[in-house]
Formats: sequence, structure tokens, C-alpha cells
Amino acid sequence: MDIIELNRLVHTPIKQNIGCTIHNTKEELLCGNLSADLQDLLEQRGVLVFPQIEFTDAEQVAFTKMMGQFLPEIDGEEVYNISLDSKVNRKSEYLKGSLYWHIDGTMNKRPIGAAILSSKKLPTWGGNTEFCNTYAAYEALDDDTKRQIEHLHVAHSAWTTLFYYNPEPDQTKLKEMMAIGETELPLVWTHKSGRKSLVLGATAHHVIGMNWTESASLLNSLREWATSESFRYSHEWKLGDAVMWDNTGTMHRAMPYDPDCGRLLRRTKTAGVEPII
Ligand SMILES: [Fe+2]
Repeated sequence: MDIIELNRLVHTPIKQNIGCTIHNTKEELLCGNLSADLQDLLEQRGVLVFPQIEFTDAEQVAFTKMMGQFLPEIDGEEVYNISLDSKVNRKSEYLKGSLYWHIDGTMNKRPIGAAILSSKKLPTWGGNTEFCNTYAAYEALDDDTKRQIEHLHVAHSAWTTLFYYNPEPDQTKLKEMMAIGETELPLVWTHKSGRKSLVLGATAHHVIGMNWTESASLLNSLREWATSESFRYSHEWKLGDAVMWDNTGTMHRAMPYDPDCGRLLRRTKTAGVEPII
């Protein structure tokens, strides 16, 4: 009887096009029997919410390892502090770009697969994390638009995000961000599964070979579409919540909050398994 219970995933959708709340206990999640079903559900729903599950760092690492190939930070750190508070995160300046819609790791050969955030300290105001489903947004486009964008490629760069939060950077800062590199990515990602998703976000600079005005208008209209109400979920954190997202089929952003309030999320992530093609 116990075994049957441990193998059953209990969940409810949050919105029609995105999000799912998982009701299983921490023990059920950590036993590993639900991992395959959770992975399928993550790909379908984009975001999984584990209300007040209260993962310790060790439990979060263990759970992340069940959901894919664990990906530590570049310096080997397993769990990363997400906070705009420089007392909590030495690289908080870089996180200012996270206030704008983006996919993690578009500069990498393979963007990260999935990420998990656990809430450790709430903000005094604001600080929701928002997600949008870029599979669902693509699938709901009309056929003419799908045909129009099917073969387009977009120049992406980390330095493009700099101008979102620092419109007049000094040359040293700009060069530092430019050193991260640039890449060209298809506007429509055809996944190994055959599903397609939109590749947009604050790193997107321009559509290759397109007039600049048309390019800006197209990227803006697709971003507006993909992040519109029916494809978007805004998570209001409660202490101990964990939220997992499929980084290959969603974009996300943090909503503004007091940078000095100590708001803290702990992040783990899995490696991406396919490049954007
Ligand atoms: Fe991010």
C-alpha cells in the first residue's frame, strides 16, 4: 500500500497554459519514484510549485539530482544565492538583468535544463518571480506568423541586457559584458521532442538580416505575446516554497523589490541536454 502511494504524483494545474502545484510530501519527492513523472509534467506545464516544502540545501541538491544531471556553479558551488543584496550576493550587480524576461544561459552551447529556487527570506515588498510558457505561446500563434518567423535567427548577447538597467555604462563595464560573447540563435527552437518554442528575452538584440525597426517591432511584439496573461504565471513567495522551471520552454524574471531587504532564494540547476536549434 505504501509503495502505491509513493508512486502517485498528486498535482493540480495553476493556469490553463502554465504552472502546476505539486501536493506530494517531501519524503515522497525525495524517494525518487516520482522523478520521471515530474520530468514529464515539468515539460508539459513549464513550472512546478512545491508549496512550503522547506527543502534544506542538501535535500534540494538531492532532489535536483533526481531531475537531471546536476550542474554546479562555475566555481563548484552547488547552491547559489539569488539576491540583489550585495551583502548576500557579491555578484548582485549582474542579477539586475534578471528583472527582465530571459532564458538562463543563452550564451552557453546548451542553456541550462531546469532550475529550482527555494525561498529562504521573503522581501519586504514585491519580489514575485514570473514565468511564461514559450511552448504554449508558440503553439498559439497564427499560421501566418509561424511561417513568417520559422527560419529567422536572432543575435543574442549578455551586453544587450546591460542597457536594460544601466543605459549609460562606462566603457569598462560595457567591455566586461561584451567579453561574455555573442551568439546567433533561431527564433523558433525545434526540440528533439518535435515541440517548438520561442527563443526571446533580454539578450535578444536584433533579427539577423532584418531592417532594425522591423526587427525591434517583431521581437517586441513576440515578447509581449509570450508574456501576456494567458501564458504567464507570477509566483508570490511564501517562506519555504520551492519552484522548479523548465528553462528550455519558459522565460522568467524577478519583479522589483527592496535590494537592501535581504530577500534570498537558493538556486540549484540541471545541465541542458540539447542546444537551441
Ligand atoms: Fe534567470
